[in-house]
Amino acid sequence: MLKNDLFLRALRGEVVERPPVWMMRQAGRYLPDFMKLKEKYDFFTRCQTPELATEITVMPIEQVGTDAAILFSDILVVLQAMSIEVEMKNSVGPWLPHPIDGERALNKVIVPDAADALSYVIDAVKMTKIALEEKVPLIGFGGSPWTLLCYAVQGEGSKNFDRAKEFCFTQPQLAHRLLQMITDTTIDYLKAKVEAGVDAMQIFDSWGGLLSPADYAVFSWPYINQIVQALKDYIPVIVFGKGCWFALNEMGQSGASALGVDWTCSARNARYLSGGQITLQGNFDPSRLLSPIPVIEKEVKAMIDAFGKDRYIANLGHGILPNIPVDHAKAFVNAVKNYSE
Ligand code: CP3
Repeated sequence: MLKNDLFLRALRGEVVERPPVWMMRQAGRYLPDFMKLKEKYDFFTRCQTPELATEITVMPIEQVGTDAAILFSDILVVLQAMSIEVEMKNSVGPWLPHPIDGERALNKVIVPDAADALSYVIDAVKMTKIALEEKVPLIGFGGSPWTLLCYAVQGEGSKNFDRAKEFCFTQPQLAHRLLQMITDTTIDYLKAKVEAGVDAMQIFDSWGGLLSPADYAVFSWPYINQIVQALKDYIPVIVFGKGCWFALNEMGQSGASALGVDWTCSARNARYLSGGQITLQGNFDPSRLLSPIPVIEKEVKAMIDAFGKDRYIANLGHGILPNIPVDHAKAFVNAVKNYSE
């Protein structure tokens, strides 16, 4: 039995004493202890070593006090399992030496037995569940097929993922083939994570907002929806689409348990667009954590007042930034914990 199940209760839409709080990308980036591990081990070694992944996952629970843990890993491990090479270059980010630029490259991509190809993630889930001692729930995650296609085709991070879009718009058949392969692998992978013991699942569609609403309906949502349909009867699913306010209505009808919102969408609009019933998660501007602590406290209170304390999970509107002082992250978490109407 979980000692703190506030997060799961909010996902079920139950009335709670206060909203639960966690921060996207909380496992890593800004914690000094994480920086020390980063000096010793390269990125994918940290992902592939269950002891290290466990240690990093538990850090923010102990040091910042969030109500949920998110497994330390990356959305890009799915591409690696599909035999697409991915490197992580210091101060550059993801780097793919052989991006998928056409049919020949696509023919080399496989749909693996995900539980086998990603057995190190499954081991990390099991080890982390033990290390958490039932203190808080563990969130598993995957990238949306569109967001993963962005990296697979572009080969690196980008502001507009122009080559990924070009691929979709000039070779749509190949794009849909790749999107379906990523979807099939992801479903297999996330089901294995559920079996290993994660308590909730988040789908990150970090680059969904780069698409027009019409293109989103073709290249992103149908694939996320397949994942939601495959998982929703087994585990609560959170869909986070950055910049995807236009899709909140459709997302709200999918059977997902909660929807993530970024800071460019007001609570009022998000409630309206999502149909008013579903649990929402977000949406503090990550840069706002640089404000003085009294300002953070005031703005957190205003954020919760706007969303309401129920059917709400306090979070950032995207990942925490590497330059956030730990006491500011703590102030954010504590401001939620101290909330009263
Ligand atoms: O809370 C957590 O940090 C859990 C682990 C986690 C990581 N990546 C670790 C990581 C999660 C949930 C992710 C998701 C992820 N990865 C997304 C979706 C969420 C989002 O932020 O939009 C995306 C787009 C990626 C791809 C990715 N991985 C990028 C663009 C980068 C480089 C820049 C950066 O730091 O975001 C990574 C590397 C990465 N993934 C790091 C960490 C802690 C930093 C590199 C390092 O530690 O060496």
